[in-house]
Amino acid sequence: MDSFLIHGGHRLKGTVEISGSKNSALPILAACLMADGKSTLKGVPRLSDIDSMTRLLGELGCHVYRHEPANPAAPDGPPLNGPLDIEVQDEQQCEARYDIVKTMRASICVLGPLLAKRGRAIVSIPGGCAIGDRPVDLHVRGLQKLGAHFRTENGNIVGEVRGRLKGCRMYLGGAQGPTVLGTINVMCAAALAEGETILVGAACEPEVSDCAIMLNKMGARIQGHGTPEIRIEGVDNLHGTEHRVIPDRIECGTFMIAAAITNGDLELKHCNLDHLIAVTDRLDEVGVQTSRENGTVFVSAARRIVPVEMTTQPYPGFPTDLQAQLMALLCLSDGISVITERIFPDRFLHVGELNRMGARVRKEGPTAIIQGVRELQGASVMASDLRASAALVLAGLVAKGATRVDRVYHIDRGYEKIELKLAAVGADIERVKEGKTMVSLTAVA
Ligand code: EPZ
Repeated sequence: MDSFLIHGGHRLKGTVEISGSKNSALPILAACLMADGKSTLKGVPRLSDIDSMTRLLGELGCHVYRHEPANPAAPDGPPLNGPLDIEVQDEQQCEARYDIVKTMRASICVLGPLLAKRGRAIVSIPGGCAIGDRPVDLHVRGLQKLGAHFRTENGNIVGEVRGRLKGCRMYLGGAQGPTVLGTINVMCAAALAEGETILVGAACEPEVSDCAIMLNKMGARIQGHGTPEIRIEGVDNLHGTEHRVIPDRIECGTFMIAAAITNGDLELKHCNLDHLIAVTDRLDEVGVQTSRENGTVFVSAARRIVPVEMTTQPYPGFPTDLQAQLMALLCLSDGISVITERIFPDRFLHVGELNRMGARVRKEGPTAIIQGVRELQGASVMASDLRASAALVLAGLVAKGATRVDRVYHIDRGYEKIELKLAAVGADIERVKEGKTMVSLTAVA
């Protein structure tokens, strides 16, 4: 279990390359289970969640190969992020085991593709996680409407299809609104179903559209993605294709906040600001300026951080995946801010850790009330989930003294080389391998 050691107080300045989207790449990798022939995916980030998904695909009979071109700029350094080839070689295996599902809930994405292509799927039921209960009832209900039969057996969802899935019109929303991976799961299965499927109340996230675009390149007929009504005309088979995943909007938003919290100036390359419209709107109110030129975003911040009210919402609203990072910024605002979490009402584990750094945040149900303070202080803090960890790193960048963030394996799930990217633009951050003593923290504390 590695840690990050951060000495705060450095303004970030320079250029950061944003990686391909984790949340786009994961379901797209699972969708490759449905293709006959090889698919090649570009821009897939090197992350532990991607490793878990490629391991799962390997167990499900796929040959997965990462091209590793040498890096001419650093011949002795790590290889460049080459394309990933995926080809199904054996369709016998249909089980996503607990060992993998427990490390990565996105394993549920294989449910729809396996049922549609192999007629059978056994997927360990993902339990709750640090951000709350995370049921998969909407995935199951949608696939049931297409004709799949389900039972639970020894902690697994066992799904079977007699004959072929059949398209229909269905409502896919739940109590908290649309489901991103549920929409993708049902959309994937419907791509190979007989007849037309209409998904009403579908998630509109860019990751849903990215998957639909890739499925269409494979031969699917999907229209309306990016809107709440997706129409899918089923086809008999899908073929391999080539696709580049979209830039990671959450990584981009995290670096925008990193620029803001350090009163810095960053140039973020390979971003799509259209995917971050609610984020730039909120940041603008806080006093953070963003502008763009082609795929590059320029971020600079005023010294005074203006308090705001914000509610997380499904796309195009403010994403829950940036709630913790925005909270870290608002901890230093000039007044009282209010954040309400509508997607995962319990996603507030970072509150206690931010308070240990001198923040003044009070939680009331799904709402956090943030009283801005003049400064944060370095402390030893514990990462609890991916985005909460990112918030602690952001707080550490500006805190007085040294901050140690433990359990950074959470961050390695979703941020590619975050410490190297931050250090390259002026942050004082290093990874400390498990077992090594952190002399500098002891010295400061
Ligand atoms: C995706 O999770 C993302 N994960 C999450 O990112 C993200 O926070 C979330 O969408 C919301 O944007 C990946 O893409 C791999 P949902 P997903 O189904 O699809 C409820 C990160 O940090 N619900 O859209 O699993 C659910 O409890 C991660 O990168 C049901 O009730 O989320 C929640 O309240 C964490 N029944 C709401 O819907 C279901 O069957 C939205 O969740 C499914 C969901």
